[in-house]
Amino acid sequence: MLCALGVAAPLMLSSLVLHLARAALHPGCLKVSDILSCSNLGLEQVPKQLPATAATLDFNHNHLVRLEEGSFAGLPHLVTLRLAHNQLSDLSPGTFRNTSSLRHLDLSSNQLYKVDNFYFQELAGMEELLLFNNHIVRVESNALISLVNLRKAYLSHNRLTDFPFFSIQEHSHPFLVTLDLSSNRMPKLPLEDIAALPVSVQSGLFLHNNSLICECAMYVMFKRWEQKGFNSVKDYREEHTCLVYGEPRASVQFLEHTRFFENCSIKLPGLLVDIESTLQVYAGESALLECQTSLKGRHLTYQWVSPHQEFIAPPGNNNTMRMYANGSLEILAARVEDSGVYWCMVLDRQQSRNETREVNVTVIMRHHEVEPFNTGFTTLLGCVVSLVLVLMYLYLTPCRCWCRKQAPPATPSPANECSAQSSILTPTPPATTEGPGRKMCQSSLTVSNPPLIPDIWTTVSSKQ
Ligand SMILES: *[C@@H]1O[C@H](CO)[C@@H](O)[C@H](O)[C@H]1NC(C)=O
Ligand SMILES: *[C@@H]1O[C@H](CO)[C@@H](O)[C@H](O)[C@H]1NC(C)=O
Ligand SMILES: *[C@@H]1O[C@H](CO)[C@@H](O)[C@H](O)[C@H]1NC(C)=O
Ligand SMILES: *[C@@H]1O[C@H](CO)[C@@H](O)[C@H](O)[C@H]1NC(C)=O
Ligand SMILES: *[C@@H]1O[C@H](CO)[C@@H](O)[C@H](O)[C@H]1NC(C)=O
Ligand SMILES: *[C@@H]1O[C@H](CO)[C@@H](O)[C@H](O)[C@H]1NC(C)=O
Ligand SMILES: *[C@@H]1O[C@H](CO)[C@@H](O)[C@H](O)[C@H]1NC(C)=O
Repeated sequence: MLCALGVAAPLMLSSLVLHLARAALHPGCLKVSDILSCSNLGLEQVPKQLPATAATLDFNHNHLVRLEEGSFAGLPHLVTLRLAHNQLSDLSPGTFRNTSSLRHLDLSSNQLYKVDNFYFQELAGMEELLLFNNHIVRVESNALISLVNLRKAYLSHNRLTDFPFFSIQEHSHPFLVTLDLSSNRMPKLPLEDIAALPVSVQSGLFLHNNSLICECAMYVMFKRWEQKGFNSVKDYREEHTCLVYGEPRASVQFLEHTRFFENCSIKLPGLLVDIESTLQVYAGESALLECQTSLKGRHLTYQWVSPHQEFIAPPGNNNTMRMYANGSLEILAARVEDSGVYWCMVLDRQQSRNETREVNVTVIMRHHEVEPFNTGFTTLLGCVVSLVLVLMYLYLTPCRCWCRKQAPPATPSPANECSAQSSILTPTPPATTEGPGRKMCQSSLTVSNPPLIPDIWTTVSSKQ
């Protein structure tokens, strides 16, 4: 074993030296196991011979102006290729021939001015494509079509005025979760194409800091995304800007300052109606449903409709729900049957305008807390029942102790009544009777009366 290693090591070393010599790499390149790092060496060309074992090639910060056809062919393990901060303005056909193992390609901070259909057609395995900070004005409609494994594409800080959203579909790009098109020059978005994108793409679609023209439909789309909690909107709220009447100097942060959109509910009544928010609440707790209207008048009237078609107006229905003057509805102690979609209708009589909002309420049972309570409660009930029965037996039965053996058949005991009764009445040691007797009692109670507990709970907490 040792002997074999002793022979192999010098052999491997000599072959490595030979290989490096043949590759004629810049002496500044560092080869670290499967990484070849040639960054910041002023290279104007990719070296002809690259180590066949390389998984990562780093040519960041050089002066590469163009890439030869098949520059990275014959590297079966190549996964990551870094070409950022160079002067590439175009890619020639076949640049990535035989580079199909590539998964990460960084072409950011170059001078690319377009993305042609053929650029990445050989790169079916690509997962991450970095093209930000170039001068790209156009992405051809089939440029991303062969990238079936694409997960993240970064195209921000370019000069795009549009993007072929229609080329991204569930079946064409099943893994796509990030598409960054922020900081471009898009004045108008093809909202229908964007609405047709898979939700996984929509939630990772970054569109802030474009030159969008303010309009209701655009506003409503982003507002919905905000309500759905998409990070693309949440993390860049303030950078979502649009130009009032397309005027470059009149840029507004439209998620912060919604005044410009106050009339959208008139222009697009149908679109704003189904803005929906969701609320999850544990059973027994109170829930506050806000009626998030964009109406700003001073004399607004609110009304809620519960999932059971019950109309609620201030001050509420006085035992389970309370309504405030600001339109908020409070469910005092939520029950599972309170789940469903609540509608809030806002009416501005002076301007004769109205709006409708939905809040989808889901009441969840808190398993770990409800069950001990359940058992505790039924145990208590069982014990009280047993005690009462024992007392009844002792004090109310007409016969004396000498007739005890005749008592059980004489007592009427309906089938579904607590079976603890019979087991307690039989003269067996208490240690053995109480266990099973109590269990049976408990199960029959929980099965026959499940809504009993929440009801009692409701009245208890609403009294507080
Ligand atoms: C490229 O791959 C093809 C087959 O897919 C092969 O015939 C050809 O020799 C490869 N070229 C290089 C330079 O490795
Ligand atoms: C917004 O975009 C412009 C040009 O499109 C760019 O110059 C600017 O740096 C971007 N702002 C941010 C905060 O990214
Ligand atoms: C909204 O409509 C009202 C009444 O028609 C009008 O006075 C107001 O200027 C409009 N707001 C905007 C931002 O267009
Ligand atoms: C409670 O509501 C009922 C009708 O829903 C009403 O008749 C009754 O007066 C209310 N009670 C109080 C105290 O508001
Ligand atoms: C409405 O009033 C209730 C009770 O005073 C308060 O808890 C809630 O935060 C208010 N909602 C808004 C949107 O102001
Ligand atoms: C609400 O507004 C729509 C038009 O925007 C109108 O058709 C409808 O009658 C209004 N509803 C109420 C209750 O005023
Ligand atoms: C409300 O939310 C629940 C769970 O979050 C969901 O299953 C249900 O489909 C929603 N209802 C509507 C009408 O969106």
